[in-house]
Amino acid sequence: MGQTVDYFEELGSTNSYIKQLPGSAVTHGQLCLTDHQYKGRGQYERNWESGNGKNLTFTLAFHPSRTDRFHILTLACARAIVEEIVCHTSCNALIKWPNDILINGCKLTGILTETVYNGNTLDRLLVGIGINVNQDQFTEAVAQKATSLKLETGTEIDREQFLCGIISRIEYQYRRWHKQNNELLKWINPKIIGYGQWVNLRVNDEVLNDTYKLLGVDQQGKLAVVTDEGDLKTFSYEQVRVITD
Ligand code: BTN
Repeated sequence: MGQTVDYFEELGSTNSYIKQLPGSAVTHGQLCLTDHQYKGRGQYERNWESGNGKNLTFTLAFHPSRTDRFHILTLACARAIVEEIVCHTSCNALIKWPNDILINGCKLTGILTETVYNGNTLDRLLVGIGINVNQDQFTEAVAQKATSLKLETGTEIDREQFLCGIISRIEYQYRRWHKQNNELLKWINPKIIGYGQWVNLRVNDEVLNDTYKLLGVDQQGKLAVVTDEGDLKTFSYEQVRVITD
């Protein structure tokens, strides 16, 4: 991972950049990185705002031979970032299903996973990651719900070193994902907010009346829960949100 790096002082979006390249110009593990992403994209057409020269905004391209279980790879990347954070700070970073990392309930990291197809064949999988590292002021729109490592620890983080740590951890987890290593889910699940607890769910935008015990992500990348009557249910990541407030 990261042996080929496309670095830009500024760029609209690292995901959009790798997306528009011809297939022959993208190698497995290629990294696109910018210091100033001015048109960052999030889930559901939302924007991802990131201060110039303060944070990490990058995309890794994968050429996986498998064409399923992508959501588990996204979660494995999230877990790898959590591990790097925990290794360098005392922050209690946790994964918010389906693809965010929060500290003390505020968003630190967002991940946007996208696919590029060539006809019916998967050409590449893009995992775009935005981490608030040294930004200490956010616009009014997100100030209440965003945080950064600097805000949480009071110190500046060396972004380059932090990125290197993340990339090597993702490389290791990618191999586990590819081999369908059973340990991967056991490693991801305990870091999902609400794991093992009774939680409320929003399914297809409707808040369900009952509470469900959150069992974690299953082998298909779905969120598994059990009802108070003991029935097992699973939901895809598009369908379900865990209500944590
Ligand atoms: C989200 O929280 O909705 C996902 C945000 C993903 C942001 C990252 S920053 C690097 C990469 N390039 C983009 O345009 N988006 C992702």
